[in-house]
Amino acid sequence: MVTATQTLTASSSSSNNSTPNILKLRAAAQADHPIDNRTSRLRAPIQVTDLFARRGIDGEDVTPAVGHEFPAGTLDLGAKLRAEETGQEPIDEEFWTQLAALVSHRGVVFVRRQSSLTEALMPKLANRISHFSGRPSASKLHIHPLSKDFNEAGEYIGGEKIDSQPDAEGRQISFKYEKSNFASAGWHTDISFEPIPSDYAMLQLRTLPKVGGDTMWSSMYSAYDGLSPAMQRFLEGLTAVHDAEEFREQSQKFGFPLYTKERGHPDNVGSKLHATHPVVRTNPVTGFKALYVNKSFTKRIVELSPDESDALLAYLFRHIAENFNFQVRFRWSPDDLAIWDNRSTNHSGIFDFGKQRRNGDRCCSLGEKPFLDPNSQSREAALRASGAY
Ligand SMILES: [Fe+2]
Repeated sequence: MVTATQTLTASSSSSNNSTPNILKLRAAAQADHPIDNRTSRLRAPIQVTDLFARRGIDGEDVTPAVGHEFPAGTLDLGAKLRAEETGQEPIDEEFWTQLAALVSHRGVVFVRRQSSLTEALMPKLANRISHFSGRPSASKLHIHPLSKDFNEAGEYIGGEKIDSQPDAEGRQISFKYEKSNFASAGWHTDISFEPIPSDYAMLQLRTLPKVGGDTMWSSMYSAYDGLSPAMQRFLEGLTAVHDAEEFREQSQKFGFPLYTKERGHPDNVGSKLHATHPVVRTNPVTGFKALYVNKSFTKRIVELSPDESDALLAYLFRHIAENFNFQVRFRWSPDDLAIWDNRSTNHSGIFDFGKQRRNGDRCCSLGEKPFLDPNSQSREAALRASGAY
């Protein structure tokens, strides 16, 4: 169990005459659901300790803003999971909690050469990281609306295939963005169109092109910190609509149904693939504020006119795409694993490898309903206060 003790409260949507209708509707919707099914179990942020150093597991930060890498030979997550699953070793709560905290603080963690981490073990890894970092009890692994990963008994297996080639029915979760020639059009955070979106996701690539197919991540803590204080305050009063139009189009184009039963949480159900979230959200694991918009799914800022919304989102997407100092680019080797925090990063694959094959396994867990805690702080402010910046 998580040891932290004080709840970061969901953003208060106080009712008054100036409250936009959307906020009243959101407050009413929240009242219809048990709050403990949708909010983080954490009562205070989790600090990163010296656990890995104490155990002789040497990793290092990749850029100042984002990324931490464990080289080959420092960690064997598959062996550790297998020993715990067979009862040879007790579940190492401190280890999994600290791995989750490191991912949340650094945005993404790369673990090289995890050949013993199998497709079957990946959902167990995803569940440990998500559970020990305080996800709500009702949040499970996400079932992608384009998924068909079920066993013969109709049970969800839990993993998803990422492939540069669609399957025989045309299904493909990872595909080249077809609407733009700019590679930067693919920046996104996973499944932000769900009412209960993702806390963490992980990807392990098995087959790689000879060269190319890198993935980039951008820190949304840095994106928030890179805005002027006036813009930060303005954005904190806004909410945005996230919509997965492209998945509906894909399903219509190829004639297969979307998965419309519960997708890992009772609130993630149906075919609308549409949700409204705060533009700035608090990550409960770190307590830091992060910009929560992405070019793939964020369509409209609710409180602004359509023209104002288009202009502001275009600026924010440029802010995310063009600030290289927020970003890291990861060059994969076979069996490398990346684990990232979807609340506080955007990412984008780079589809520069023609018809070569690039595939692997992905798992995506669900966290809390996004909220902005007015008492949370920027990462930069927290680091300055601690003398680490
Ligand atoms: Fe993704």
